[in-house]
Amino acid sequence: MNDTEKIREHYQGDNLRARVEAALEAAGLGSGHLSQTVLAPLDQFHMRGLAATVDLAAAAAIKSGDKVLDIGSGLGGPSRYLASTYNCHVQGIDLNAEFVDAAIFLSERAGLTEKVAYTCANALSLPFKLQTFDAAWTQHVAMNIADRDSLYAEIFRVLRPGGRLAIYDVVDGGAGALHFPVPWSRSSETSFLLTNIAMLEALERQGFRVVSWVDQTTAGIAWAIERARASDAVRSRDPLDLNLVMGTDFGAMSQNFVKNLVESRAGLSQVVVERPT
Ligand SMILES: C[S@@+](CC[C@H](N)C(=O)[O-])C[C@H]1O[C@@H](n2cnc3c(N)ncnc32)[C@H](O)[C@@H]1O
Repeated sequence: MNDTEKIREHYQGDNLRARVEAALEAAGLGSGHLSQTVLAPLDQFHMRGLAATVDLAAAAAIKSGDKVLDIGSGLGGPSRYLASTYNCHVQGIDLNAEFVDAAIFLSERAGLTEKVAYTCANALSLPFKLQTFDAAWTQHVAMNIADRDSLYAEIFRVLRPGGRLAIYDVVDGGAGALHFPVPWSRSSETSFLLTNIAMLEALERQGFRVVSWVDQTTAGIAWAIERARASDAVRSRDPLDLNLVMGTDFGAMSQNFVKNLVESRAGLSQVVVERPT
């Protein structure tokens, strides 16, 4: 099995759309418009959930009418937030066909099909022409990608000059090997974290220029502690969560993620870079 197949297998998602539909039905949400807040615990698949997406979008200065590419779009929460908040058009791509299918379904239910579209593709071979997008966006995806030079080169290629790439990623915190499983990998085999310095060098090698670089590790830990403290209340308030997608070991994955952040084995970086004009 190659890395791509292993990553597809990790995110599994068998019959995901049908399972999401069934969970919505069970929660009394089988019909009617689905709001961002109801969906966020399921479709914002990264540490700090919707808050992280709100912060990254503000840092990236997304504009009305922008054509945005979301790389590793998952279940589509970030793309729907961008499209509805900034009135832009978002094209999502994801390796996992089950996620693409579920993202399309949730976008229909959120009434956003005119503004978002999803297709199955590999971030290392984007099916778009040179300079197609005004902005590119990726949250919690690059840690599954060993070949960062090819990833950033592909994104640079499809961005117009002056276009920005907004990144929210897990980085190597420098304090040693990770505790596994984590949400992006069940072993070290498909986890490819870079330090901030190595990530900066990889971006600069492709010609990107840094606009902003914010360490969100402390905010991530605080968010996770608050969620754990409020877990019973959160569970009764949020009928959907990522256990549905990732299976019963998602709790252990999340706990290890926080432990890795607390022990500085991992960090969280919010980065905006630009393709120079
Ligand atoms: C942790 S989820 C994040 C999803 C979404 N970005 C979010 O924040 O809600 C990681 C996603 O990246 C996708 N992914 C991983 N490697 C990829 C690749 N090489 N190309 C495209 N998608 C990839 C996975 O299928 C998964 O949907």
